[in-house]
Formats: sequence, structure tokens, C-alpha cells
Amino acid sequence: MKPRILVTGGTGYIGSHTVVELQNAGYPVVIIDNLSNSNVEVLDGIERITGIRPDFVEADCTDISALKSLFDKYPGIKGIINFAASKAVGESMQKPVLYYRNNLNTLMNLLDIMAEREVKGIVFSSSCTVYGEPDVNPVTEQSPIKKATSPYGNTKQISEEIITDVINAGAPFKSVILRYFNPVGAHPSAEIGELPNGVPQNLIPFLTQTAIGIRKELSVFGNDYNTPDGSCIRDYIDVVDLAKAHVIAVERMLDDKSPEKIEIFNLGTGNGLSVLELINTFETATGVKVPHKIVGRRAGDIEKVWANPMHANEVLGWKAETPIADTMRSAWAWQCKLRERGIM
Ligand code: UD1
Repeated sequence: MKPRILVTGGTGYIGSHTVVELQNAGYPVVIIDNLSNSNVEVLDGIERITGIRPDFVEADCTDISALKSLFDKYPGIKGIINFAASKAVGESMQKPVLYYRNNLNTLMNLLDIMAEREVKGIVFSSSCTVYGEPDVNPVTEQSPIKKATSPYGNTKQISEEIITDVINAGAPFKSVILRYFNPVGAHPSAEIGELPNGVPQNLIPFLTQTAIGIRKELSVFGNDYNTPDGSCIRDYIDVVDLAKAHVIAVERMLDDKSPEKIEIFNLGTGNGLSVLELINTFETATGVKVPHKIVGRRAGDIEKVWANPMHANEVLGWKAETPIADTMRSAWAWQCKLRERGIM
């Protein structure tokens, strides 16, 4: 029997896909989530895919007593994957204290309880946002960290520093920090996917909502960047590929496969795609048109960033495998499923 894994934020977008992969790999999972940006029905989706309903505690990770009761109720947790965080860049500019409190208090509570309850390792969700606007692409893990341009981005940088300081101070556990590029798509079963609150700020949910007619047209933020077609370039990574990397990272810590106490990996495909290229790929893959128009640049956007994923490829033996056309089809199937269920 494999040890139990605690997944914070496990009913969220990346969290739910990771719970599926953990359960498929034989790990018992307990989720803690305050449902601030997700829905309890996600558990049904996970159960339909895997045949197993993960244990679930509705609580906030900033509440240390709730965390303690969870550990009392579920002894034997050996690994934590921490997805519980606020993640909207724009909102973080309006409500910085909320972001610092949620994201940093959650992390510090988890680090405290890990030492107390003999948890062997924590996987932390970081972001390519730490590289800011890179001088050189693709970025490696050694690329310079740039000053954060939002409280959200700053919480990711500070969190990486907190983990490093705590482990260097001799904490009795390990950490794997994963820097995600742009996670997109949904589980191919269309049982789980991304469910944004309100008007989506990210490209793919806005695009699929436009394709299905909820939004009139997609605004392409700028076509005057220094890129081949003038629109911004990102590294779009399939959410299931991303989820699988977490299982490998957990295994690596629990089985002491590395002598390092802290490791950092970029999780991307290694391919940069522009906004216009992505719209095109979606239209070709699904046969569905996306009405769109070019508008001005969005404040704070990065012009281009994509990953050098060699470190993860070689050390973790992990590679993003899903062709982007398949990812676009899964994103579309999920949007259609939401419509079928009358959700949107
Ligand atoms: C942003 C954050 C990133 C964070 C991620 C999670 C920045 C610089 N990056 O990523 O740190 O982890 O959100 O939410 O803030 N676009 C359009 N029209 C739209 C929406 C987006 O053209 O309606 C374009 C954007 O200009 C961008 C690309 O699509 O070029 C991707 O945007 P988005 O999905 O918001 O992700 P990032 O900005 O890359």
C-alpha cells in the first residue's frame, strides 16, 4: 500500500487532474480545499474517472487547527502537494493582503505541520512568472529571477525562498518546486476541467467560451510585439501531462531517489506558440471558429516566454507528450460538457 498524499487545493483545476493521476498510480489521497474557486462536484468527476472517491475535507489551509485535525483524522500522510493558492494576477493588484495571507500563511502552516507530523516532502506549485520578461528564451532553471510585477507573482517568489530557507535550516523533509508554464486543456474524459469564476482572464477558457457563444468575441491583446506574427508567445502545456509530473515528483521525495533536499524543475513543452497560432490550432483541431479581434496590449503582459524542459526530461524522466491539437480538443470537449450539464 502506498502512503497517503495530502493534496491542498485538490478540487481546483490542476489539483483535480493531479488527484486523478495519483489515484491511478495507487496513492490514497486526501484533499483539503475551501471551495473558494472550485466546486465539490469535482469529486464526482474524479470518482467517475478513477473509480475512487478521494477523501475530502472542506477547510482553509490558513487555519492551522483545521490542518491539525485533518492530520489527526488521516494519519500516515507522507507527502503534500500544495495547490491551495489564489492565482489571479489582476485581483492580486487590487487585494494584495488577501494574496500574501492566503498564499504565504498556507505554505508556512504546511511547513510547520510537516516537521511535527513527519511528512517526507512537499511539492510546490510555482510558475514561470518568476522569470518575468526573460532576456533569453527558452528559459532554464538557472535563468535570472526578475522582480515580480504583481503580488501574485511575488507570493511565488517568496514561497520559493521560504521553502529554501526552511530546508537549508535543517528541516527534516524535502521539496520539489515545479515552475509551470501555461497549463491548458482538460482530462480527455471531459469529466474534469477548468471552471473559472465569472469572466475568464486566461486565454483558453475565454476562447472556448467564445467558441460556444457565451462571449461575443475574443480580444487578442496586441499584435505589435517583437514576435513573428506580433502576438505574445507562451508555452502551453497539457494539464494531464503536468499532473503526471507531480506523481513523479512525489515518488522521488518519498523514495529518496535524489540526494538533493530541494529541487526545481521547469514544466513546459519547450515550444513557444503565439496567441494567433493557438487560435488557429484550436480552429483546425475542432472545426469550430473563434470570432476574434486585435485590441491593445494588456498591461503587465510578458512578450514571450517558453521553457527549456531538459532538466525535467532528463532528471525526472518526464516529458510533455500530448500534441497541442489534442489539448485543444480536450478543452473544447470540456466546454461542451459544461453546456450539456447546463452549467454554462
Ligand atoms: C498569467 C500570469 C502567470 C500566471 C497565469 C495563471 C502574467 C504575466 N502571467 O499568465 O504568472 O501563472 O496567468 O493565471 O501575468 N490573451 C489574450 N486574450 C485574452 C486572454 C489572454 O490575447 O482574453 C493572451 C495574453 O495576452 C497572453 C496569452 O493570451 O499573451 C496567455 O494569457 P493568460 O492565459 O492570461 O496567461 P499568462 O498571462 O501567460
